Amino acid sequence: MDKAKIVKGKFILLLIPVIIFVIAVRPPMVFRAIPKPRGAQHMCPFQISEETITPLNNTKHLLVSAYMDQRVTGFDIRIIGIFRRDSIQPLHCLFCCSGYFSGSTPATISQHSDNFGFAFVTTDIMCQIPQHCNATHVTLLTQPDGENMSNQIWLQIRNKKTSEKEDKRLHFNFTVCISNLFGDYNNVLQFAQTLEIYRLLGVDRVVIYKTSCGPELDRLLQIYTQEGFVEMVPWPIDQHLNPSRGWLFSEHGGDVHYFGQLTTLNECIYRSMDRSHYVLLNDIDEIIMPYQHNDLMSLMNMLQQQHPDVGYFGCLFLIENHIFPKNPFDKSANSTMPQWRGVPGFNILEHIYREEPDRTLYHPHKMIVKPRAVEQTSVHDVLKMFGQKFKVPLDICRIIHSPISMPRQPLLDQLHLDTRLWDFKDRMLPNVMTVMRKAGLLKSEEQR
Ligand SMILES: *[C@@H]1O[C@H](CO)[C@@H](O)[C@H](O)[C@H]1NC(C)=O
Ligand SMILES: *[C@@H]1O[C@H](CO)[C@@H](O)[C@H](O)[C@H]1NC(C)=O
Ligand SMILES: *[C@@H]1O[C@H](CO)[C@@H](O)[C@H](O)[C@H]1NC(C)=O
Ligand SMILES: *[C@@H]1O[C@H](CO)[C@@H](O)[C@H](O)[C@H]1NC(C)=O
Ligand SMILES: *[C@@H]1O[C@H](CO)[C@@H](O)[C@H](O)[C@H]1NC(C)=O
Repeated sequence: MDKAKIVKGKFILLLIPVIIFVIAVRPPMVFRAIPKPRGAQHMCPFQISEETITPLNNTKHLLVSAYMDQRVTGFDIRIIGIFRRDSIQPLHCLFCCSGYFSGSTPATISQHSDNFGFAFVTTDIMCQIPQHCNATHVTLLTQPDGENMSNQIWLQIRNKKTSEKEDKRLHFNFTVCISNLFGDYNNVLQFAQTLEIYRLLGVDRVVIYKTSCGPELDRLLQIYTQEGFVEMVPWPIDQHLNPSRGWLFSEHGGDVHYFGQLTTLNECIYRSMDRSHYVLLNDIDEIIMPYQHNDLMSLMNMLQQQHPDVGYFGCLFLIENHIFPKNPFDKSANSTMPQWRGVPGFNILEHIYREEPDRTLYHPHKMIVKPRAVEQTSVHDVLKMFGQKFKVPLDICRIIHSPISMPRQPLLDQLHLDTRLWDFKDRMLPNVMTVMRKAGLLKSEEQR
């Protein structure tokens, strides 16, 4: 008690000179620097969204996040949203500039070209920030003014430049963007093995957008999240829309493609733009695997050397997808890990037969991108970009894709033996054991 009083007393003593200083040198400047616009009796923002998905009041649209982005001339900010295509209306950006409202600026609305027939589509809303505004938050209005501003929900503006030396802020070499975990997906063995191989390849961060998953996988993901390797972004799209489990509206119905996969991929690129040299866009059942290098950095160093003139924003690389079907498989791999009995999922090391891709399909690729080279992306290719695009030769890098199910039986003469994953086995397996033990998933071990 006494101690607390003394501290309090000291604090007040310390405060007196501060108060005198503030009164003495109170600068009238502060109020001139940012002119108070009409009608702004209050400080802003009032209500900042804490959700990943925020409904835009008075519209049918959803907002996801706002990023500083000055790559397109005339614009400063890009808001990523999910918009209903049949009810697009003019919108205006209102900014919060170090505590005061700005005037509004007109928004340019850019729907992504891939909508696959669904009513909702990933949409970019781009605006200019008014002069002399140190913008911290942004919101969208359906009328340039006239709305009750205190009812607005604000988005924090991310990727704000803090210095010119951008590369110093790139903490990560490689980020993997795993879009959309949904349903009761529970393939723990594949997930843990795949994440540990990513780590061995030099991946620093895996961003996962989670709507839902099975209970064991949830425990595994908690361990990875605690140690910071996985960044889990809540993705409650099913609370706002009727998301489709398929990719084509005419076949699968619903409001939006694959639980909003296209939006999460774009969001992940912008989220990574100021902190990761490269972003890998692939699913959790896929591993972008160098075949001549031990890790992704050696691969990228070689590819970059081959393409030195890609310009300021960098480039992106297309990697061909190769399916390692469920059957046939190598049974000997299964018997090596008796402790895994009862753990949901399959051992990816069993899948050593590679199918020859059907190159008549348009989509056998996934991507490694420099995030600043991308403006808008889809799943198998980018929609808008600033940089250049290259296909990586098959002998250098392929995707090892071990899907949970296969609608068709592969023909035997289309299969090649490919044991590249086994090169990582000895380093990967102990790490998988450790993480599964931490997650309390090795039941057979506990019984002993
Ligand atoms: C802008 O606002 C942020 C947050 O309030 C502050 O940290 C930053 O110093 C400001 N920048 C300028 C140039 O005033
Ligand atoms: C704006 O909304 C707030 C909160 O709902 C309310 O207190 C205020 O009176 C409203 N102002 C106007 C001008 O309608
Ligand atoms: C949405 O707007 C209505 C009317 O303008 C207002 O009453 C309500 O509080 C707003 N809701 C949110 C979440 O801003
Ligand atoms: C990025 O790669 C370089 C070169 O391989 C390495 O020295 C560095 O430790 C890596 N950084 C991170 C965060 O992994
Ligand atoms: C692996 O072994 C377990 C139990 O020994 C068995 O249930 C499972 O079907 C096997 N997996 C495959 C792919 O054969």
